[in-house]
Amino acid sequence: MKGIIAAAGKGSRLFPLTSSVSKHLLPVYNKPLIYYPITNLIASGITDICIITNPNELSLYKKLLGNGRDLGCKFEFCEQNEPNGIPDVLNYSKQIFGPVPVTLILGDNIFAASEKILNTLNNKSVKGAKIFVKAVNDPSRYGILEFSENKKILSIKEKPQKPKSNFAIIGLYMFDEMVYDYLNEISPSDRGELEITDILKKYYSKKSLTFDIIRRGSVWFDAGTPESLLKASLYVELFEKQSGIMIGSIEEAAFNQKLITYEHLKKIAGTMPNSNYKEYLIQINKNSN
Ligand code: DAU
Repeated sequence: MKGIIAAAGKGSRLFPLTSSVSKHLLPVYNKPLIYYPITNLIASGITDICIITNPNELSLYKKLLGNGRDLGCKFEFCEQNEPNGIPDVLNYSKQIFGPVPVTLILGDNIFAASEKILNTLNNKSVKGAKIFVKAVNDPSRYGILEFSENKKILSIKEKPQKPKSNFAIIGLYMFDEMVYDYLNEISPSDRGELEITDILKKYYSKKSLTFDIIRRGSVWFDAGTPESLLKASLYVELFEKQSGIMIGSIEEAAFNQKLITYEHLKKIAGTMPNSNYKEYLIQINKNSN
């Protein structure tokens, strides 16, 4: 399975933070935002990752992440010409990977991926599309899935003014190769963007959309607003200080996946300036792998 990270877009809700810095390079406590979705992809066994950026931002991402080889991964980068909507990023990743099944993660979504999610993502033979939903207090901000008690999907709506459910579709999608056909069939919504929910509706109409419910109490942030970016930072700080475990370390994820050895991890850390991040990587117990 190939991975895509949508890391372009206007970032307008974070203005003026995003007037000269890409949203996905902003800090979430001690790491750039984009580290979190990359970590989730690596943790689920995905090593070929295409990162879609805004024009003129590509060099920043390349400087931060390199080509991924040092982590046993392969990072590719593409510039999206215009923020035409989330599904449009598939037009770019298709040029790199071809029309293959993909896992798409939104670059501003942070979640502590449960075993259940990781196992699902690990399943390399996706049929149709798979999404994940979570109960939220502010459903008008998200794509919303309505479903019956026996988990039959009833409706899908992007940012509804009168939400029919409080289950938000989180920014993690698995698609089979049909997604490219559906991409050609959808058109921009009233707000002038291609909507990812329109792709989901296509799968739904073919009865090939399935979903899992992320249980209450699990952690998910759409860090696209100043409030949620701050909340995400505070959460990561608290979690890391209490547990002694980092969330969102791409090097640790690669080590845990056995993509790199402990010796190699130490070598990577050795190239880093003195910092808590470097110390953390060095102290990872080499016996834990
Ligand atoms: O966070 C989950 C929600 O994300 C879903 O529930 C919604 O259905 C989905 O539409 C999306 O809503 P947002 O309003 O949060 O999307 P946003 O415009 O913030 O874009 C999400 C990410 O995708 C962000 O990291 C930027 C990136 N993006 C966005 C656009 C419009 C791109 O890479 N290219 C784009 O053209």
